[in-house]
Amino acid sequence: MQKLITASAIGLALALGAGGAMAAPDWSKAPGKKITVLYPGASPMEWILKGTEHGGARGLKKGESCASCHDEEAADMGKKMATGQKIEPKPIKGKAGSIPVTVQAAHDGANLYLRFSWKQPAGGGEKMDKDNQVKLAVMFEDNKIERANLSGCWETCHQDARTMPDAKDDKKTKYVKDGDVKAGKFYDLIQWTSKGAKHDGYVADKRVMEGGKGLVEAKGEKKGDEWVVVFTRKLAGGGEGDIAMAAGKTYNFGFAIHDDHTSGRFHHVSLGYTLGIDAKADITAAKQ
Ligand code: HEC
Repeated sequence: MQKLITASAIGLALALGAGGAMAAPDWSKAPGKKITVLYPGASPMEWILKGTEHGGARGLKKGESCASCHDEEAADMGKKMATGQKIEPKPIKGKAGSIPVTVQAAHDGANLYLRFSWKQPAGGGEKMDKDNQVKLAVMFEDNKIERANLSGCWETCHQDARTMPDAKDDKKTKYVKDGDVKAGKFYDLIQWTSKGAKHDGYVADKRVMEGGKGLVEAKGEKKGDEWVVVFTRKLAGGGEGDIAMAAGKTYNFGFAIHDDHTSGRFHHVSLGYTLGIDAKADITAAKQ
């Protein structure tokens, strides 16, 4: 019996060792893309699609993406909302309008690795989330939701969601119109928090922060004034609300940073981009 236990202990140690061998990729070989996340104010899809309010509504309906019009000016846009000049009824004093983030991706045939790095902007606002100075969430979409290729995470953002200015239901989360996880109509969602938690969920008819089996690890640290966050996610996914990723394919992708202890809608968000696995896209995860 003693022998058996020892043998299985060795087996376990070997298995763990093998797990450790899927070490992070060589990031110096993964080109970084600068993506500026902006403070969106209260700009739900209902606002985006209303031609009398949003200058881009008509272009979007014709098939132009948010990024095609706004990619270069994300910082200027964010400033308008952070200062309350536009669509933000509750501006936070000293809030950064935008944060430039370097995004890198790689894979090793089994796992996708995503690395985000950015400089901590000035803060000092109300501590809505006392536990976490920062949270970073990423959403992926498998080309099944209408317009997700144009508008990224914005498809999940609605005027009746909690923390929105006129919301009546303080439990209502993000959702996708006709969202249905069984029918594949969802955004896969992973999140890292600076306190050290990780979440693997999805957004379908509502936001769920669990059920996924794809997220292996979410690690972040602050070196000097720079945050570095790395996600390790099984390409195959495998859980509820996980999309299965494969080489040669591209996915819609966006991310958000809850900076300076914020929660709910008070985050900085990216426009929608594409992530390719060994495929040409805004960000390509090449095999290492
Ligand atoms: C065809 C081009 C076009 C597209 C596509 C487009 N927009 Fe716009 N957007 C504009 C214009 C023009 C304005 C008005 C800018 C101004 O006030 O002069 C604007 C304004 C905004 C603003 C208010 C801040 C500002 O700078 O005025 C936000 C937020 C915004 N757009 C977000 C989005 C999002 C999110 C999408 C995609 C879901 C999107 N836009 C798609 C052209 C576009």
